[in-house]
Amino acid sequence: MCGIVGYNGAQRALPLVTEGLQNLEYRGYDSAGVALSNGTLDVYKRSGEVSALLDALPESADQYRGIGHTRWSTHGPPTDANAHPHTDCTGDVAVVHNGIVENYDELKSELEAAGHAFTSETDTEVVPHLIETALADGKSPKAAVQWAVGRLEGSFAVVVTMAGVDALFATRQDSPLVVGYGDDGAFVASDVTAFLEHTRDVTYLADGDLAILGASDGQTAGDVRIERDGEPIEPERETLEWEADAAEKGGYDHYMLKEIHEQPSALRQALSGRVDPDAGTVDLDLELPAEYVGSLEEVQFVAAGTSNYAARYAAELVEELADVRATVEIASEYEFDGGRDPWRTLVVAVTQSGETADTLAAIRKASRAGARTMAVTNTLGSTVTREVDDSLFIRAGPEIGVAATKTFCSQVATMTMLSVALGRQRGTLSSDRASEVLSDLRGLPGAVQQVLDRTDDVEEVALELADSDAFFFVGRWLGHPVALEGALKLKEISYDHAEGFAAGELKHGPLALVTPETPVLAVLTEGSRPEQTLNNVKEAQAREAPVIGASSGDGAGQYLDVEWPVPDAGLLEPLITNVYWQLFAYYVADSKDRSIDKPRNLAKSVTVE
Ligand code: AGP
Repeated sequence: MCGIVGYNGAQRALPLVTEGLQNLEYRGYDSAGVALSNGTLDVYKRSGEVSALLDALPESADQYRGIGHTRWSTHGPPTDANAHPHTDCTGDVAVVHNGIVENYDELKSELEAAGHAFTSETDTEVVPHLIETALADGKSPKAAVQWAVGRLEGSFAVVVTMAGVDALFATRQDSPLVVGYGDDGAFVASDVTAFLEHTRDVTYLADGDLAILGASDGQTAGDVRIERDGEPIEPERETLEWEADAAEKGGYDHYMLKEIHEQPSALRQALSGRVDPDAGTVDLDLELPAEYVGSLEEVQFVAAGTSNYAARYAAELVEELADVRATVEIASEYEFDGGRDPWRTLVVAVTQSGETADTLAAIRKASRAGARTMAVTNTLGSTVTREVDDSLFIRAGPEIGVAATKTFCSQVATMTMLSVALGRQRGTLSSDRASEVLSDLRGLPGAVQQVLDRTDDVEEVALELADSDAFFFVGRWLGHPVALEGALKLKEISYDHAEGFAAGELKHGPLALVTPETPVLAVLTEGSRPEQTLNNVKEAQAREAPVIGASSGDGAGQYLDVEWPVPDAGLLEPLITNVYWQLFAYYVADSKDRSIDKPRNLAKSVTVE
């Protein structure tokens, strides 16, 4: 989920490309770069924010073609060398890329064996070297790009520029790219925000389309040709009505809503190249010695806030699938207690930012005690990744809204993979059961999309109930952390009183708070012991509380005021339910005109203890 921009036309490219990068910075901000081409190719790149790149750029440059990239790392930490654009051995081909090249290991070995020298740790760098190979074989620039892209597996949006070739080439697979028709030049970008100040006349590329911006095959600079299956097509052009601010949010009113809707693509990225449901195997690129995994006695999760709830979900899965004791501690309460064998304890810090002070303090205590440590994080190069023995990335892309949404979903999905990997390595999980769980994971993006398709229903219910006195979320087993997370989301952005309970606890006290003015939202899916939870739902209903249930089975509907269906997904059904809770929280808060992306008193990353 990085940002890409390219321009070819009658104006000098540098200011247009850097302006595009500044507009795209919300898509990734750990490093940035620019390539400008005419007869030669000049590349500038820097780790850090776009402002660091701006300091390294010349004040002006003569080239009329340029590409730029702002990165959110998935392979290789954020360094100057890993920043895009990436080039080939000749320095004549430059590529920017968004997505993941799943077969890059194999391609890199092949290219290295053929004598190519790599200068970065990224998956992207195989692309310019493949293009170089094809050019050396006598292919035209366009054919070389097509051949190279044909070798890639995974998801990608790629834009290429070459010295001496007056065209930009852009193509995509499962990752967005949009062409913009300016008055005196053509743009291409991952997101219209990059060029909205120059044109609103656009074509969204489809998977497999190749856009040629500029003078290849007799076009003049500024012309755009789009080919599908090797033949030119008449592109569908549309005129955007969005203002720049709305465009940055993808047309949504808030980043939070955009990020809720990004969950299917974030999940695809999390799973990309990692799971093989047929074989029942997971490849997370971790270096946990088999002997160590086999002798593990405990997995301890440490985390704060939403990440803590993701960890609670994960701990249950580790126990279920890997048959090893798993515990969760609030990071700020953590001590590595005596009595545990540090050599047989894996301490996992779950933190989307990788910078939460409480979580860093906890992981330092674990390291000092001699335990092996791991980070599950969204942020390559973050502090936590420098302090642990192993890092596992959730690949959700940048999350701007203070309220964590897509990162929770990707954390749980990634730790489901971890649980399967541990179970397989420990020999406690059969390959059939692993295949089942991995198939459910494969289906997760589609299942989450089915919930998102019901957004209007959720909005309607949220508006009806928005003025309630308080909101209670209940669930059992895997539904319990989802209840806690549902309540946290609602209180965080709506400022209403909300609480999450283990459903069985309702009768031990909280039931005294239940009235006709306190809706109860219940997880009634597989993985949340729905039959027992239904008993607790009935207790609430008897007190005339409005009851909303997210359910995957039959039979609950008659006890519910509102029933939202959850697609079949085994142990992941409570996670899918959480998407309903996110939408519900969002629309309650929106009806009160709250500052949804930046709730009062809260910060995205809490770097104080
Ligand atoms: C969640 O919506 C909150 N913003 C907050 O609880 C957050 O999850 C917590 O501060 C931990 O952050 P981290 O994942 O970056 O460590």
